[in-house]
Amino acid sequence: MSVDLEKILRPVDNPMPPFQPKYMTIASGEEMVIRQVGREEIPDILPHVEALMHVERDYYDIVASRVYAELLSYYYYRVQDEYVLVAQINGELAAIVNGRMVNKDVGMSLHTLALKRGLRIGAHAFAAKMEYHIDIMNQKEVLIVAESPIGFRRWMIEYNLEKRFDTPHELGGVPSWALTKELFDKARDTLVVGRRPVPGHLLEKAEADILPPSDPPKPPDDLLAATRARYDSTATVLIEQRKRIGGLANA
Ligand SMILES: CC(C)(COP(=O)(O)OP(=O)(O)OC[C@H]1O[C@@H](n2cnc3c(N)ncnc32)[C@H](O)[C@@H]1OP(=O)(O)O)[C@@H](O)C(=O)NCCC(=O)NCCS
Repeated sequence: MSVDLEKILRPVDNPMPPFQPKYMTIASGEEMVIRQVGREEIPDILPHVEALMHVERDYYDIVASRVYAELLSYYYYRVQDEYVLVAQINGELAAIVNGRMVNKDVGMSLHTLALKRGLRIGAHAFAAKMEYHIDIMNQKEVLIVAESPIGFRRWMIEYNLEKRFDTPHELGGVPSWALTKELFDKARDTLVVGRRPVPGHLLEKAEADILPPSDPPKPPDDLLAATRARYDSTATVLIEQRKRIGGLANA
C-alpha cells in the first residue's frame, strides 16, 4: 500500500542529457571543477547549506533555506525535472546551482549559492547552469529572478536579461527575467569559461568526496552588529533568531 502511494507521490523525471563536467582556473590560481551531482550525494551537501540558513548578510538566509528545501525535494523525488551542479576546489564545496527543465524549450533557474567569496565562483557556477540549459539541453530561454542585490548585479545587469514580467517565476511568483540563446551567445566570450574534459586527477578528487568549505560565510558574533536590516523594522526577527541560536551570539 505505502509503496503504491509512493509511486503516485513521485513524479517521473523526463530524460535530460547529463552536464559534462568542466574545470577552470579561478582568480586565486586554483582549479575549480563544476559537475552534476546525483541524489546519492545530496546528504553530503545539506549540512553546508544548513549552516548558511543563519547568515542574514547578503540574503544567504533566505537563499540557503530555499536551496535546502529544493535539495530535499530532489532527494525525496518531490520535484519535477530538477538538476543540481556543484563547484569544488580541491574537493571542497565552493558553490551550488540548481534549476529545472520546465519543458523542451524553457528552463527555470532556481538558485546560485557561493560558499567561498570574492572569486566570482558564484558567477562561474551560474554560467555553467546557463550553459546546461542553452547548449546542452538546447533550450530557447531560461527564466531567472534575483533575491539579492548581488544576484541582480550578477544576472540581470551582467547578462542584460530581458523582462518576462507577465510570467510568474516559481520562486515566489515574482516577475521573471529571461536569458535567451541570443543573450547567452553575446556573453559567451566574457562570462562563460571552462575547459573539457576535466583531467582525471581533478575529477577523481571532486567525485571522491564533497569536502566542507574551508571559509564559508558565517553569522557575525553579534547578529545585530552586522545586519542588512539595521534600521528596518524586520530586523526585530533577529532578536528571535538570537534567542534560538544563542550559542552563536554574544548578546
Ligand atoms: C550572488 C552570489 C552567488 C555571487 O557570487 P560570486 O559571483 O562568487 O560573487 P561574490 O559573492 O564573491 O562577490 C560579489 C560582491 O561581493 C563583494 N565581495 C567580494 N569579496 C567579498 C568577500 N570576501 N566577502 C564579502 N563580499 C565580498 C564584492 O563587492 C563583489 O562585488 P562585485 O560584484 O563588484 O565583484 C553570492 O554572492 C551568493 O551566494 N550570495 C548569497 C545568495 C544569493 O544571493 N544568491 C543569488 C540569489 S539571486
